[in-house]
Amino acid sequence: RNPEKERLIEAHELSAKLYHFLLKNTEHGTEAMKYLRARGMNDKMIDQFQIGYAPDRWDTLVQFLTKRSFDLKEMERGGLLSARHEQEGYLDRFRGRIMFPIHDRSGKVIAFAGRILGDGQPKYLNSPETLLFNKSRTLYNLHQAKTSIRKLRQILLFEGYGDVISSWEAGLHNGVATMGTSLTENQVAIMKSVAEEVVVVYDGDKAGMAAASKVIPMLEGVGLKVRIALVNEGMDPDDYIRKFGPERFRHVVETAVSTTKFKLIYLKKNHILLEEDGKIAYAKEALPIIAVLNSSTEREVYLRELSSELHLSYESLKQDCNLLRQSMQ
Ligand code: UTP
Ligand code: MN
Ligand code: MN
Ligand code: MN
Ligand code: MN
Repeated sequence: RNPEKERLIEAHELSAKLYHFLLKNTEHGTEAMKYLRARGMNDKMIDQFQIGYAPDRWDTLVQFLTKRSFDLKEMERGGLLSARHEQEGYLDRFRGRIMFPIHDRSGKVIAFAGRILGDGQPKYLNSPETLLFNKSRTLYNLHQAKTSIRKLRQILLFEGYGDVISSWEAGLHNGVATMGTSLTENQVAIMKSVAEEVVVVYDGDKAGMAAASKVIPMLEGVGLKVRIALVNEGMDPDDYIRKFGPERFRHVVETAVSTTKFKLIYLKKNHILLEEDGKIAYAKEALPIIAVLNSSTEREVYLRELSSELHLSYESLKQDCNLLRQSMQ
């Protein structure tokens, strides 16, 4: 037992309750509440995810923690307060932000992510690495999602907090997210310990697709089954649900494609198939993706698709694919 750790957990738990109360029951939270409503967040979601508001003042938490006899130096180490620059003393780290508590696997609050209302930098201010919080070992919402994950043997992996929350409201309770950082080996190991399959539901933009292609080998590398959900051009899951509704979103997740299919789709985006050069370049880069598949049935499925897509004969594609396989051995 580490007493500092326990005091920090208690301070985080109390702070989460305070921020949640301030959002829901005080004038401080009015504007934040309006912002959340405009984003389609209802009371149920706000309660379920313990969302709160840190007022735009210097000392909300300083006062609150002082009254409860916490050591402010310790609270600064724990990431709740910042040291003043010009003089002695502390001020609140989070000010004027929507607060998303981050829980450990057992459901204790160990950190916060604070989103600015509207535009501004940084969009999300996260807790620093502390005695409690190791970003690379934490998955947002795992404490709530683990029941559903165990039952389904499946995890939905998102980029953002809002994506996890909206998907939960859409009836999908097995969603987790990383915290702005790219996926780590530690997080992969955690996922492997609770699930057989990961459906990657990243943002439907360039960055999201690039990130998805990075996580595929990491997840497959530990033997997890992987599929990729194709969220519409430019939207993230949260946006998608707001625009098209929960049913269509669930369909997007259910029809998540194989990693091979995803790689081919991603690759195709870089080539203009109307031109011979583009066609040949695409075929050349597509073949290695297909050639590594061990099942000849699988290879045939993708080769036939490629063949009809490029108006090339299946036979010649198959021949090139087999040559490639021989050279790979
Ligand atoms: P996004 O930019 O996609 O944010 O970053 P978002 O979750 O869709 O946010 P909204 O909808 O505009 O509120 C994805 C994730 O990257 C991390 C956060 O975890 C965020 O959810 N991030 C992003 C940060 O940590 N800091 C930032 O400044 C921005
Ligand atoms: Mn709690
Ligand atoms: Mn994004
Ligand atoms: Mn996003
Ligand atoms: Mn978003």
